Amino acid sequence: MAKPKIQYVCSECGSSQSKWMGKCPDCGEWNTLQEFVVRAPEKTRGATALSNAGPIRPVALPDIPKESMVRLPLKIAELNRVLGGGIVPGGCVLVGGEPGIGKSTILIQMAAEIAMAVGPVLYVSAEESAHQVGRRAARLGIQHDKLFVLAEIEVEGIVEQIEQMKPSLVIVDSVQAIYSANSTSAAGTVSQVRDCAATLLRTGKQHNIPIFLVGHVTKEGSIAGPKVLEHMVDVVLQLEGERFHAYRLIRSIKNRFGSTNEVGIFEMGEKGMVEVRNPSEMFLAERLPNAAGSAIAVSLEGTRPLLVEVQALSSHTSFSQPRRTANGVDMTRLLLLSAVLTKRVGLNLSDQDIFVNIVGGMHIDEPAVDLAVAAAIASSYRNKPVAADLAIIGEVGLSGELRSVGQLPRRLNEAAKLGFTRALVPRSALKGKTEESVPKGIEVIGARTLWDALETAVAT
Ligand code: TYD
Ligand code: MG
Repeated sequence: MAKPKIQYVCSECGSSQSKWMGKCPDCGEWNTLQEFVVRAPEKTRGATALSNAGPIRPVALPDIPKESMVRLPLKIAELNRVLGGGIVPGGCVLVGGEPGIGKSTILIQMAAEIAMAVGPVLYVSAEESAHQVGRRAARLGIQHDKLFVLAEIEVEGIVEQIEQMKPSLVIVDSVQAIYSANSTSAAGTVSQVRDCAATLLRTGKQHNIPIFLVGHVTKEGSIAGPKVLEHMVDVVLQLEGERFHAYRLIRSIKNRFGSTNEVGIFEMGEKGMVEVRNPSEMFLAERLPNAAGSAIAVSLEGTRPLLVEVQALSSHTSFSQPRRTANGVDMTRLLLLSAVLTKRVGLNLSDQDIFVNIVGGMHIDEPAVDLAVAAAIASSYRNKPVAADLAIIGEVGLSGELRSVGQLPRRLNEAAKLGFTRALVPRSALKGKTEESVPKGIEVIGARTLWDALETAVAT
């Protein structure tokens, strides 16, 4: 028999090396390389797990059978959309998120729905005992005799159960807590996680069973330590939220079956995760109209417009170095906008502490909120409120010019729906727009520069 080949895999970046080294040459971390044995490929595997037995041959594009993809639609509409219209049989979904954010909660709710509508569901709990899972289900009001809980941590045992039971859906909570008896490295290491995920993925594809894997996100924000699983699975969902806010965002980072960048919004309550159908209303609920330093931005999360309140406070500082604090927007954007306000609009912010906050704990990366942030700062600085009926959309350039943003009609529609009668937008975004593309009931005001825009939003 041939000598087994040894490889060394870095537990930080996942790169593999042929010899042991103290420092990983790829990511530069020390003592992260772990030894593991490379098993020879099984001869019997034939055509890999993804196709039927027999040698693999290339197939001409028109000869590939084009059966339409069947999906199991979910009643939880927010989750359904993020998945691209339902669960795809044989598809593997990785659900990432920080510990305690609600991954197990949403998945057991989904499991109950599938158990009721489609057939048996296997919930593999590798972290909690069956008793704990049962208690959570009871708390959520879930009692279903087709929902099976398996407290197992060995992947071979899990596969055996899947093959025996042939459930409609398998959930493995979490992939970091299971191990393979065939792998030589310790549980929780990169190669273990990767091996276990690969085994489950293969089983799912073979039997056409959808598999959801839970992955805890570490401090650095990558799933399973390094992002070793993201390329293997079909869909990567990320559950996000602030600990002190009830709302949770579920975002699709990768989706082979639908568009990415979709978000679903939930609220964590007494009875688990509840869908939020009108998130803009929720974010604006506590707004004080006509307060200086507040502006309404229309951001877009995936294809979904969201109205958020941007608050700014500018106050005189006694320090030589004024402070800038950004909550929910990028710090560099705040610094840039402060500089543009100083240089192009003439606001003297050099002796002002500036705090910016997106209400509700949302984090917005989109530059389309720039103009609202700038307007909120100017409003606070001048102590003049932004008109309460004005929604603000636009990116601010370094010369103080306003830059066009994508999907303007969709944003305007949402603003009109929530009762805003005027919208301030970059003039360039209106080029080529006809009357019809602007929703009724909202007056659209185009501005060329930040200066012009502030004339409208925060008159001196
Ligand atoms: P959980 O789903 O266990 O998180 P994860 O699997 O991502 O680690 O959720 C844990 C938190 O959610 C916990 O702090 C309690 C809270 N929670 C609720 O607020 N309402 C509920 O109905 C449930 C089940 C949990
Ligand atoms: Mg959990």
